[in-house]
Amino acid sequence: MNDDRHIPIHLRAGGTSLVVAVDGGRLPRILHWGPDLGEVGDDALAYVQKAALPAIGDSAVTYPQPVPVLPQPAEGWLGRPGLVGDDDGRRWAPKFRDATYRAEDETDGPVLRSTAHDPEYGLSVDLEIQVLAASGLVRQRVRIRNDAATPYRVDSLELALPVPSDASEILDLTGRWALERVPQRRPFHVGEWVRASRGGKPGLEHTLLLVAGEAGFGFRHGAVWATHLAWSGNQVLAAERTPAGTRHLAAGEVLLPAEVVLGQGDSHRSPWQYGSWGIGLDDLAARFHRHLRSRPEHPRSPRPVVLNTWEAVYFDHDLDTLSALAERGAEAGAERFVLDDGWFLGRRDDTSSLGDWTVDAAIWPEGLEPLVARVRELGMDFGLWFEPEMVNLDSDLAREHPEWIFDAGHGPGLASRHQHVLDLGHPGAYAHLFDRMSALVGSLGIDYIKWDHNRYLLDAGHTPSGRPGVRTQVEQVYRLMAELKAAHPGLEIESCASGGGRIDLGVLEFTDRVWPSDCNDPHERLEIQRWTGLLVPPEMQGTHIGAEESHTTHRTHPLDYRAEKALWGHLGVEVNLLTADDETLAALARWIAFHKEHRELLHSGEVVHADLADAALRLEGVVAGDRGEALYAFSVVERPSTWPPGRIRLPGLDDARDYTVHAVHPGSAPAAGTVLPPWQRDGVTLPGRVLRLVGVEAPSLDVDRSVLLRVVSSTKAP
Ligand code: DGJ
Repeated sequence: MNDDRHIPIHLRAGGTSLVVAVDGGRLPRILHWGPDLGEVGDDALAYVQKAALPAIGDSAVTYPQPVPVLPQPAEGWLGRPGLVGDDDGRRWAPKFRDATYRAEDETDGPVLRSTAHDPEYGLSVDLEIQVLAASGLVRQRVRIRNDAATPYRVDSLELALPVPSDASEILDLTGRWALERVPQRRPFHVGEWVRASRGGKPGLEHTLLLVAGEAGFGFRHGAVWATHLAWSGNQVLAAERTPAGTRHLAAGEVLLPAEVVLGQGDSHRSPWQYGSWGIGLDDLAARFHRHLRSRPEHPRSPRPVVLNTWEAVYFDHDLDTLSALAERGAEAGAERFVLDDGWFLGRRDDTSSLGDWTVDAAIWPEGLEPLVARVRELGMDFGLWFEPEMVNLDSDLAREHPEWIFDAGHGPGLASRHQHVLDLGHPGAYAHLFDRMSALVGSLGIDYIKWDHNRYLLDAGHTPSGRPGVRTQVEQVYRLMAELKAAHPGLEIESCASGGGRIDLGVLEFTDRVWPSDCNDPHERLEIQRWTGLLVPPEMQGTHIGAEESHTTHRTHPLDYRAEKALWGHLGVEVNLLTADDETLAALARWIAFHKEHRELLHSGEVVHADLADAALRLEGVVAGDRGEALYAFSVVERPSTWPPGRIRLPGLDDARDYTVHAVHPGSAPAAGTVLPPWQRDGVTLPGRVLRLVGVEAPSLDVDRSVLLRVVSSTKAP
């Protein structure tokens, strides 16, 4: 690989090229991030750099320049600075220079390492910029080190990924409890569009990605670039366009006062900033999916169908009821029984007991063993709910160790769902959790933890100093998850935080699935799963069939619609099966069987969405990696402006192969008298190219109804 300092370095992998200027001892500057440029000789690379130089007026400060990955005001940068820090008011305007550069091919993709110093300040930075071979994702991180005798306080450390000026529109996500991941769009104007999380976790309203793209981009068209921070704590994502014309996506932790103070010889490393690009959002998301799937720890076994007790019984636990529920679940085809909140000491509602992770003998006189034994007899795994970082003031733990509760000087702060936060920066608190959880996992043989987190961290001070403990908390949570998994090989963990409040590539290093939302209403779930899917592949999203009348929205939906929307992810059931009639149970069992039959496709294929002109319609699907088969769902989510709504074109198939398309009805057949388009009666066989460009007439459906399309190739790949 090229190590001539004056010729940009070209990192190529996974369909992505990153051309990085490394001249003049300056910090690396990205000249191109996007499609693979192919082999580019040194001369051409030198010209890429030359071509990127702007016409310079009389000011070195205001002319446009390639954005350094760590932008510095001292180098003439007037936008968001990469590093903000100081030493009691000094050493606040660093100028890193004399950079060395080393590009190496590593098994997971080529990486550029660069070290630069500010000798006057006694500071240095180590940067790593990598293109991942399996996915074409770009990621970068930086370590800052203080070699001076006096402490250096870091207030923020952000990295930047530049995007071209074609990126004229920004997409990000917002939301709230039971309505996570609502998209919002705006023009990419001069200035900063900043999304920050300050609650000690990304949060329900967090944007998983900050996307910039060509005007009007969709799932299948328009070039797009996005960033994500692999971190489960306070953080900021920013899209910045400068008056000089540069545009970039920045990401970094939001650090609280004195959370990072470097003594002599100390260093601090940022989380990875990830970048994905694509032609359309499907392409961009597929890189994240490929990345997650390429990890050795990615859950590979068929994802066991879950029966979760929460919406069925809430806090109302007893052995007979839960055993009966497990039996009905097993009959329907469930493979994992998850006992949700309500099993531990005194926990009859949400006002008490968090922290007391001991099975409550008052309702479980023989412990959980008889339930676990029954679950196992039925051939199911056993999972248990914990909310490790939380504590109720009404708990033995809080009474014995009030000093383990976060307190920034005004007591434990506002209660949220009657709870406060346990400070895992206390070795005793950490040990208490590890010991209690590990003992239960070991003695009961727990296969799966549903790991909840329902209160934001607000004035989270470590006692007795009162110093902020939020960043330490995140590191301790990662450590706790890792140590539990190391002590109990095979243990799976779900990241839940009032639903989708902690979803990021940081926590996904230690967990096996996320709970996208407490809302099981299929009308909402369609959107929540679609946008969560920008980052998280289907097999890592928990998707449960909820009650006929949704517990969060009180809309009612037939089983077929609820089941179809849950089909795609890691399937589960939260319906109270004890009150379900035989017909419902039988239909549920058919849906579960259908899911099992197709889960290999659903959990390994490429997720696709059609860009439909009518906002009332949705078409999404999964296409097998070899393009031999696919499943799509066509849904009507509000009353379409025209009826019938016209043709639906199927994305993602192989243009050159023939496919047979059938509408399938795993639950119940369409009601007698339903008007079907003629092709739907016996299916239709057409080339992939025709299905992509011409399509088939949309089935006739009411609002909140869908049809599954099963598409199988009748020809081999050419
Ligand atoms: C919030 C979670 O999101 C729910 O799924 C459930 O586990 C409850 N907590 C239990 O208290």
